[in-house]
Amino acid sequence: MNARRRAPGLSRRGFLALGAAVTAAATLPGCSALGSRGAIDTVGRVDFRNRLRIPPLAEADRRGGTTEFALAAQAGRSAIVAGGEADTWGLNGALLGPTLRARRGETVRITLTNHLDEATTLHWHGMHLPAAADGGPHQMVEPGATWSPSWRVDQPAATLWYHPHPHGQTERHVYRGLGGLFIVDDDHEAALDLPRTYGVDDIPVIVQDKTFDSTGQLIETARHDNGMVGDTILVNGTAGPVFEVGARRTRLRLLNASTARSYNFGLGDGRPVTMIASDGGLLSEPLSLQRVLLTPGERAEVVVELEPGQEVTLRSYPQDLGLTDARARNSGAADELDVLLLRAAARLAPSPEVPARLAVVDRLDESAVAVTRTFELRNNRINDEEMDLGRVDDVVTVDTTEVWEVWNGHRQPHNFHVHDVQFQVLSVDGRPPPPELSGWKDTVYLPPEVRFRLIMRFTEHTDPAMPYMYHCHLLWHEDQGMMGQFVVVEPGGRPADIGGGHGH
Ligand code: C2O
Ligand code: CU
Repeated sequence: MNARRRAPGLSRRGFLALGAAVTAAATLPGCSALGSRGAIDTVGRVDFRNRLRIPPLAEADRRGGTTEFALAAQAGRSAIVAGGEADTWGLNGALLGPTLRARRGETVRITLTNHLDEATTLHWHGMHLPAAADGGPHQMVEPGATWSPSWRVDQPAATLWYHPHPHGQTERHVYRGLGGLFIVDDDHEAALDLPRTYGVDDIPVIVQDKTFDSTGQLIETARHDNGMVGDTILVNGTAGPVFEVGARRTRLRLLNASTARSYNFGLGDGRPVTMIASDGGLLSEPLSLQRVLLTPGERAEVVVELEPGQEVTLRSYPQDLGLTDARARNSGAADELDVLLLRAAARLAPSPEVPARLAVVDRLDESAVAVTRTFELRNNRINDEEMDLGRVDDVVTVDTTEVWEVWNGHRQPHNFHVHDVQFQVLSVDGRPPPPELSGWKDTVYLPPEVRFRLIMRFTEHTDPAMPYMYHCHLLWHEDQGMMGQFVVVEPGGRPADIGGGHGH
């Protein structure tokens, strides 16, 4: 392997511009630029024979008034595909982690113990919380060490998730299996007639793609233009997964926890799904959709209706990411994939209809915007800067509303994720966003050359010495430096020296 990382797929001009910084950056293991790849079609070819694993709900200790969870990062072995076991990582188990669940208003404390032989972090993706509790690259947990962030959960009911965020290593740590759901509940959502029995009619669907060798071991080097794009789809760590449906309506909490691949979900029999929530919570009203596009890090909750005895496959269909054909193929966008078989029992428990009104999504007030910032994503940089742990890129004043104008300035796929806040999409190239982007979001796909105006409000948790991140959630891009940092300060405040030696 060449020690100089060439970002595969960049134009020659882009590559030359990057040369110096790329050479100076740390070498990542397992990078290889493969040639272009064809489209994969697994429709009808997946042997659905494994019962879908449902991640257990994490045990919560509420005795002291705080909701306490314990997570142990550990290495293990997992029999995922035929041929043998894979070396994997998990939380409280060999692969993935339990589902954390807390109610709005609760104060949570999570004690993470790192039993791995390298440092990692856990980031609470989508959560509004103090920067020091965020689990980004400044909160590295060394082998054998323990980290116990605590915060008060104060945001609408939503399907959030957690995953590692060690600078330059996030793709590998997520790929090996660290991650899980974090469900936030609130009184409003609890009063709605929606399927909500965990593991029964309300199920996590954590979708990841991986590549295995003939011994069942994970391959960590199959990297195309945008990172690793695997040929085997796992749901909750299960290959060829079947879920036995017992109720008329089932709520799927879809999470794209892949490192680079996007999914364009739909049902194999052509019926629509009913989308009820996006990243940060319920939509104002249910949306009937043929396809739900989720790029890495994004979530959607959908309700699927089945007849007794029916079988239907959740699939990912080819998707328009705004790329050229070759780029699209290399990103997996031309693939057609069987993901999960839903098999309904001969008798189904009745379920109420999805309510016609779900939530009031208060629109953030554009006339109150204090600052507009612009972010261009290109060549694994944001505004031409490579991520630097010691540099604060943006200083945000608490209790203000900002517009972030974000765009992808070249022909690679990127998305954009902001820590600490949920935002709303004001416009897409000057037009109102499509309905599936009209609710709370924390991650949004950026097709090349399309301008997104995102509006967000920053509240509480000021800390001039500890930044939050924003970045592309294609983890290979993030690892290569497509990330920036912001601090939230009191009015008139200035960032403190955050030091460059954090991280590792
Ligand atoms: Cu899901 Cu900065 O991450
Ligand atoms: Cu990217």
